[in-house]
Amino acid sequence: MMSKENLINYTDNYRPEFHYSCRSGWMNDPNGLIFFNGYYHLYYQHDPDRIVHDGSMHWGHARSKNLVDWEELPVALSPDEKGEIFSGCIVDDRDNTSGFGEGDLTPLVAVFTHNFESGTIKKQYQSLAFSLDGGISFTKYENNPVLDLGLQDFRDPKVFWDEKAKRWIMLVAALNTVRIFSSENLRAWTQESVFSTGDLAEDEIWECPDLVCMETEDGKKKWVLIVSQNTLDYRKTGVRYFIGEFDGSSFLPDTGISKKQFLDFGRDNYAAATFQKTENRNIQISWMDCWAYAQNTPEKGFRGIMTIPRELFLTGTKNKMQIGQRIATEVTERLPEIRINSRRYDTGKLSGIYILPLQLKKGRIRIGNTKEKVDIKFDYEAGEIYVDRSRSGFIPGDEFCEIKEGILSGETEKGFQIVIDTSSIEIFSMSGKTVGSFLYYAERPFQTIEVNEEM
Ligand code: FRU
Repeated sequence: MMSKENLINYTDNYRPEFHYSCRSGWMNDPNGLIFFNGYYHLYYQHDPDRIVHDGSMHWGHARSKNLVDWEELPVALSPDEKGEIFSGCIVDDRDNTSGFGEGDLTPLVAVFTHNFESGTIKKQYQSLAFSLDGGISFTKYENNPVLDLGLQDFRDPKVFWDEKAKRWIMLVAALNTVRIFSSENLRAWTQESVFSTGDLAEDEIWECPDLVCMETEDGKKKWVLIVSQNTLDYRKTGVRYFIGEFDGSSFLPDTGISKKQFLDFGRDNYAAATFQKTENRNIQISWMDCWAYAQNTPEKGFRGIMTIPRELFLTGTKNKMQIGQRIATEVTERLPEIRINSRRYDTGKLSGIYILPLQLKKGRIRIGNTKEKVDIKFDYEAGEIYVDRSRSGFIPGDEFCEIKEGILSGETEKGFQIVIDTSSIEIFSMSGKTVGSFLYYAERPFQTIEVNEEM
């Protein structure tokens, strides 16, 4: 634990240049993502006074006009006698269905989990807070919680307005299920259905559900349910999704897709969330970390970074349908994009988006300095990609060293877009069908990208 006075400034070794990180303290899940009055608002799981996740979660807050330059704002929600503030979302209650509005001021309503622990008692329930100043300050609802089923694992509400049924829909993760509720006013909730797959191992759980409407390549609407899948001891982790239909009460996954579908083959993409109110775009941000070692990473007064904002799209048809991801255009418009056509590229410090068209069917991309490296091995014929960061510098846990494997198929153009920023690498295949996010903690900046025929 560290007191605030000891915290070091904003420009230290592992501090990313263009990924969001908070000034000081601990950060995990993105919360309450919403585009409102010209700003992208990013709230997040935060402890301003500690650099570990230790019973005192708040909602931190930052905003940005362009998804690259972030302004950190005062903490939005702090723990109270009902518990600490776990993950959740924010909705724009334009019609003041909740009644929290005053005169012409309609509220932004935060729906979050109160996590209560005292001795052996552990409970999670859903609560509300509202803002009448565009999301800067919040007042907690006096009759919190609004949904308490007496459960211990019942968290991460995601609420959206169902235009057809003219009511709110809320998804909440409860162990290995997602429960779906409805409400007219955000205060009283009725359970509509429970979604589960029955294919989880006994210790596997879901967290941070999301349900988004997306368009297929041939212009049809599909609903995609996204969940973060983990184990109770936080070993296995990943963001999983299901493509299907939502009938206003239940989510029905399409049949025929046999394999488990994950958003990202990297180790460091968890608690994915999408912005509300971005019209028909689904812009998504995740916590770029992994519970297995997140609290052991080297720190200089802060811990936790977010992924680069990505735009999700659906690609392929029927049982080949999947989510693709591209770096959000706001980001590509602002960051340097460096096209590398040679086998070796050298610079003082790698930082930006590197575009690597490839001729090779098989080979290795090595990103590093003279001592430390991350290897990306690709084989288009076998349809495989592997990432090895076992010699990338400081190793915060065993899981960090495993060679992570991804699927590399359906690429018409060979090559990658690689986002490199101080302590993180995000790999996007040209089509956006294969994406992998990885942290690393090198002693010195990575300077070289080398492409080699050898695997
Ligand atoms: C996911 C998660 C959520 C919870 C939050 C607590 O990373 O475990 O389920 O609300 O983090 O910080």
